[in-house]
Amino acid sequence: MPEFKRYLVTSALPYANGPVHIGHLAGVYVPSDIYTRYLRLRGKDVISVCGSDEHGVPVTLKAKKEGVSPQEVVDRYHNIIKKSFEEFGIAFDIYSRTSNKIHYETASDFFRKLYDKGEFIEKTAEQYYDTQENQFLADRYIKGTCPKCGFEEAYGDQCEKCGSALNPTDLINPRSTISGAELTLKKTKHWYLPLDKHEPFLKKWILEDHKEWKPNVYGQCKSWLDNGLQPRAVSRDLDWGVPVPVENAEGKVLYVWFDAPIGYISATKELTPDWEKYWKNKDTKLVHFIGKDNIVFHCIIFPAMLKAEGSYILPDNVPANAFLNLENDKISTSKNWAVWLHEYLEDFKGKQDVLRYVLTANAPETKDNDFTWKNFQARNNGELVAVLGNFINRTLVLTKKYYDKEIPSPGKISEADKEILNEILKSKKEIEENIENYKFREALKAYMSLARTGNKYLADEEPWKLAKTDPDRVKTIMYVAAQITAALAVFGEPFLPFTSKKLKKMINLPEIKWDDVNTEILKPGHKINEPQLLFEKIEDKEIEYQINKLLKTKEKNAKENIEHKPVKETISFDDFQKLDIRTATIIEAEKVPKTKKLLKLTLDTGIDKRTVVSGIAEYYKPEEIIGKQVQVLMNLAPRKLKGIESQGMILMAQDSDGKLYFMSPENKTGNGAEIS
Ligand code: 2FM
Ligand code: ZN
Repeated sequence: MPEFKRYLVTSALPYANGPVHIGHLAGVYVPSDIYTRYLRLRGKDVISVCGSDEHGVPVTLKAKKEGVSPQEVVDRYHNIIKKSFEEFGIAFDIYSRTSNKIHYETASDFFRKLYDKGEFIEKTAEQYYDTQENQFLADRYIKGTCPKCGFEEAYGDQCEKCGSALNPTDLINPRSTISGAELTLKKTKHWYLPLDKHEPFLKKWILEDHKEWKPNVYGQCKSWLDNGLQPRAVSRDLDWGVPVPVENAEGKVLYVWFDAPIGYISATKELTPDWEKYWKNKDTKLVHFIGKDNIVFHCIIFPAMLKAEGSYILPDNVPANAFLNLENDKISTSKNWAVWLHEYLEDFKGKQDVLRYVLTANAPETKDNDFTWKNFQARNNGELVAVLGNFINRTLVLTKKYYDKEIPSPGKISEADKEILNEILKSKKEIEENIENYKFREALKAYMSLARTGNKYLADEEPWKLAKTDPDRVKTIMYVAAQITAALAVFGEPFLPFTSKKLKKMINLPEIKWDDVNTEILKPGHKINEPQLLFEKIEDKEIEYQINKLLKTKEKNAKENIEHKPVKETISFDDFQKLDIRTATIIEAEKVPKTKKLLKLTLDTGIDKRTVVSGIAEYYKPEEIIGKQVQVLMNLAPRKLKGIESQGMILMAQDSDGKLYFMSPENKTGNGAEIS
């Protein structure tokens, strides 16, 4: 491992088209902040840069919808995001934005340099155009029928039903998600970065030289590289963004994913005139903190851009995290399924560290993970209050009571006491190793394990019982407990900065660096200040309030999430009469083995008990639906699904995401009643 002289930490620039939520925090900002704070505490030369990503189509659409300018949209969210990061204690050295002048200049210069070096291919190709909206459409704004599985809601870049990667031109009946209009193909000129040209370099650099990258990151890069890289357009037809800085490029702007990572460079420029020291010197360790959806941009495209430019360093590591879900559902900005940082800060005043703690303890480091309010409460009450807070409070209150807030001179220090003191050094090493390897969950575990050791030490030694009989022993115990408390104050800074600050003040600890921590941080005779509680219990009602808020969102979404497709062709009454629909009750339900979606249902139809195989397993558990009355299409021709004969079909309503809903009657009838 080369020794680095300085560190440059970047955190994915959040899109300024919505506020920041817990998914962003757990995936990117809390880990990057822990890492940066740790490096600062070790006295390293480190800068942490971030800012708002203010370009791209979603911003323009939001502006259009609200009847305001794109600048107004990004100003609003930039301010909310910046303020909430500050309040939450994410200690960037600079939080910039990509709509400012320095960024426009930096991004234009960067493009121009590649252009002058002949690093782009200029190409005219046909792309889908929405004639109603008068704009070319990004792949995500095109929907149509998947040619592979027939799903009618597939996106221009991917079918979310069968997972196939698609091109917009693969879709059958492509339509615009913005206007709903059918699309026409129109010629347009763009500049392409020939990633294929950089493929041999990228292969060596990632697959051979960076085998230490996290398996999810390395694996995704390998799969891209194994599939072969293609030239990628780095410009778009849009009127919001950095104009393409060459002749004959009216109406063209840089692709948001071309300009956004350059935002890391412009932010550094804005921060310091010495910016080149960080970006152009091989002694700098560059680390990009991102979420898994950003891997290709940070590991392949941006490095190819930097390499093509020629004077920049490349990242040493890109520790991407997986996603955090919320109460078992994917976090979604558009569906308001999120815990928004600015709202959390309002609802839980002064409790920044609780959220930082829970998000680190549950960080989606190796796989997607779930945030639940119950777990949030349990971790606060059972870990922060009952272990960390309890240990520190007992130590400080007893020090006040027995020694008038003065650290006592220890009596005899036994081997067992020494072992406890040595835990300080062990934790220090374990935290260091884990943070340096981007394992923040483990690092936090090591930290909490020191608190547990302290807590157990006091509970086992019971100094309060010995106060009268063995004062010397009590002095030793309290001396040892004080050293652990002080170590927790220092080690806690990266994870729980507010708590660490408060605690350092309480124990009157001068600013000390990580490397100065040893087994005697507080000398005998050192005076501490007035103890205060560090954490407080979170009550059930606070959690219920949050859960209710989410339930309301769920109900609202279910109502709104309906795409109104045109009514189908008219049919005759006779056609309708052919359908034999009746009421029936589900009397048995079980999963069909080796399938994700299918349940085998037994229905009591009044006239028989029949089997129906239904594709609802993703939404309903077998035990939840027994006893439900449903409508069944009785005379549908039987068909075999996974070897089981399905004799009919139950009728369900479907929302735009494909989620299925039972249409159970308000008043049950007998089974077998005809529906007509
Ligand atoms: O995924 C996102 O939220 C992007 N706005 C991240 C950009 S990171 C960087 F390249 F700026
Ligand atoms: Zn498909």
